[in-house]
Amino acid sequence: MSSVNTPVISDATASAQPAKPPFVKGLAGIVAVQTEISSVDGPRSTLIYRGINIHELAEKASYEEVVYLLLYGHLPNAAELTSFKERLAANRSIPAQIVDLFHTMPPDTVSMTALRTAISALSFYDPEIEDISIEATERKAVRLIAQLPTLVATYQRIRQRQEPIPPDQHLSHAANTLYMLDGRTPDPDFVSALNAYFVLLADHGMNASTFTARVVASTNADLHSSITSAMAALKGNLHGGANEATMHMLLEIGDITKVDTYIDALFAEKRKIMGFGHRIYKHNDPRARHLNYWAQRLGNKVNKPQFYEISLLVETSVLRHREIYPNVDFYSASMLYYLGIPIDLFTPMFACSRVAGWSAHVIEQYKDSALIRPQSEYIGPVDLHYVPLDQRQ
Ligand code: COA
Repeated sequence: MSSVNTPVISDATASAQPAKPPFVKGLAGIVAVQTEISSVDGPRSTLIYRGINIHELAEKASYEEVVYLLLYGHLPNAAELTSFKERLAANRSIPAQIVDLFHTMPPDTVSMTALRTAISALSFYDPEIEDISIEATERKAVRLIAQLPTLVATYQRIRQRQEPIPPDQHLSHAANTLYMLDGRTPDPDFVSALNAYFVLLADHGMNASTFTARVVASTNADLHSSITSAMAALKGNLHGGANEATMHMLLEIGDITKVDTYIDALFAEKRKIMGFGHRIYKHNDPRARHLNYWAQRLGNKVNKPQFYEISLLVETSVLRHREIYPNVDFYSASMLYYLGIPIDLFTPMFACSRVAGWSAHVIEQYKDSALIRPQSEYIGPVDLHYVPLDQRQ
């Protein structure tokens, strides 16, 4: 006997139905786009940008070179790099109205919310906002990549009731980012560490925020709309927000003698350890070792090695329970902390880097011009009827 809500499909009707595509929760393992931008190989623990292994780039490349590589498909020659750096440096300023917007935000605004809103608002002032040609989008990408650190630093200065510090065109992207936060010429090691961080996080296959950016771009929406949406996806603690959660955990542990007890309790409560595990890398996130190096070096430099030491012990302690390894967010937490970045600006810092990858993917998506539109499997009731309001329970 069929229930009222179950559709009755005759054999003849059923055989005429096209085969239903399989349901894949979270689209795991589904290949939705082809890309030439980056490749993430879990079993081999490798990450490449446009064919170049991340290990080489992390040790040798400037972020500016990597942005060029991602946007234009090849490493710049000397003349191209000089002019690209000049273009980035010349585009760092943000409109006065955006500075005013930060002033109007409630004091307890969450930083990723503030910055997502500011990126969206930047579209009011971009001269080519509705032009989605490849050429205009590349120009807009350069402007946004240049402006993001200025947004972060301006937001930070205003909420501390300090004057924003204008960008310094003579400094590199990483150096200028640090400079705008406190007005001091940054230590060369700090600049190298932040440069490596920016290089390592600039792109990463079809992660959640990049997928979001591509979905929005696939509808022919503009770059700023795509990047605003990507910022929204990055905010969650299963994605970009894990670096902040990691640092809170390290501070809560506070002392190397407390690591095992703390980690045992998390496992006993079946809670996730932030900064561990990865959808693709099941053994080793290739970016982690560079961030580990910089965290150790900066920890010694600022004479606060304890957070790095706690991190090392957390890694060992977690492995006693199950085979999960640190991901990109784990050592970047102590590294960013040593750089003096406020914890709630860790995810915005991630965005300052990833905006390059997002932009490259938006451009690639425009070139492909296929609407990204998966299906859902309806599992709710059918054959119900509209009940007039006065007859509803
Ligand atoms: N702490 C504790 N257990 C974890 C874990 C973590 N950080 N990450 C994964 N696991 C466990 C899962 O609970 C699951 O256990 P089960 O088999 O008993 O159900 C198993 O390992 C497989 O993990 P799963 O959740 O299927 O992996 P995933 O690929 O879906 O998830 C993440 C990947 C990143 C969402 C997940 O590892 C996570 O939540 N990590 C913490 C947040 C984080 O650091 N995010 C940044 C990612 S770069």
